[in-house]
Amino acid sequence: MSKRSDVLHFFNLPEQKLLKELNIDIVYPLWVMNKLRGMVLIQPGHSKRPGKKVDMELLSILLDQAMIALENASLYEQQQERLKRMYRADRLAVIGQLAAGTAHEIRNPLASIRSSIQYLQGDEQDEEKYRMFSGMIREVDRINEIVQDLLSFSKPREPSKEKTNLTEIFNQVFLLVSNMVRKKGIQLEYHCEEEAPAIHADAAQLEQVFLNLIMNACESIDKEGKIGIHVVPAASDNWNKPGGYQIIIEDNGQGMKEEELEKIFDPFYTNKKHGTGLGLSIVYGIINKHGGDIGIESTAWEGTKVKIKLPEE
Ligand SMILES: Nc1ncnc2c1ncn2[C@@H]1O[C@H](COP(=O)(O)OP(=O)(O)O)[C@@H](O)[C@H]1O
Ligand SMILES: [Mg+2]
Repeated sequence: MSKRSDVLHFFNLPEQKLLKELNIDIVYPLWVMNKLRGMVLIQPGHSKRPGKKVDMELLSILLDQAMIALENASLYEQQQERLKRMYRADRLAVIGQLAAGTAHEIRNPLASIRSSIQYLQGDEQDEEKYRMFSGMIREVDRINEIVQDLLSFSKPREPSKEKTNLTEIFNQVFLLVSNMVRKKGIQLEYHCEEEAPAIHADAAQLEQVFLNLIMNACESIDKEGKIGIHVVPAASDNWNKPGGYQIIIEDNGQGMKEEELEKIFDPFYTNKKHGTGLGLSIVYGIINKHGGDIGIESTAWEGTKVKIKLPEE
């Protein structure tokens, strides 16, 4: 417990002035997990006395208990998060093995089906039937895309890391989504204070990550929404790797309810008619292989915020 005069030098001038104006008598720092998480400021109250010794002792015990409670809550939260990650990694590994086997078996027959249809279509004079063959080829190509997604999800390539400029990757992705963005009248904004935010990473894989996330954001917007992308140096409590960047992709689309948010990293979970539900599983795998971190916050009917941290090396 500190008297105001003991701790005044920790505050800047306007804060000191405010403390004086508010007539704060006691300042009690709240240390949680070795970090200053807050302060309890106490006014002398109506009696105009700084508090009897016994009050101070009682207060000190109470606030110490509060700090322990806060510390326990933080530890519990960390523990839950760790358990969730372990569970998720386990599930992904099992489903991944299954998917990889199936995908390989499907690919070859699919290729021969496609070329047979093309062959038959070549001889077809009837316009109606010709169109039907085109439809069949389109559907086969869709299966092929799903199989491709399955393979990149279940057998993620080791990233081949090189010095990579994040802004350049985003510019590449913006070209790919420009059609969809224009059609829906979406406002897409990119902010990065640094000219060349560089990390060691697999550019092609990160392109896949950002493309998936921006596509999801676009798809969540009915029309005329907004997608904001911010790239800032990573610096946060739970990030103990040196350097790197935090990338935030937020949209004001339909958002998600809590129950939905819990399932989005599950492979094959989708709420879309033509979705595969593999996008975020692939994203998760790639970020993991880069030693990074991904978190998603969302509110139904308000929007979604994806936060990614990537280390420098
Ligand atoms: N930005 C977003 N806004 C709202 N819902 C989202 C967003 N991103 C992902 N989702 C939800 O997560 C699900 C899974 O996403 P994903 O793995 O990319 O598969 P897909 O896009 O094929 O459905 C989506 O179907 C959607 O329900
Ligand atoms: Mg997707």
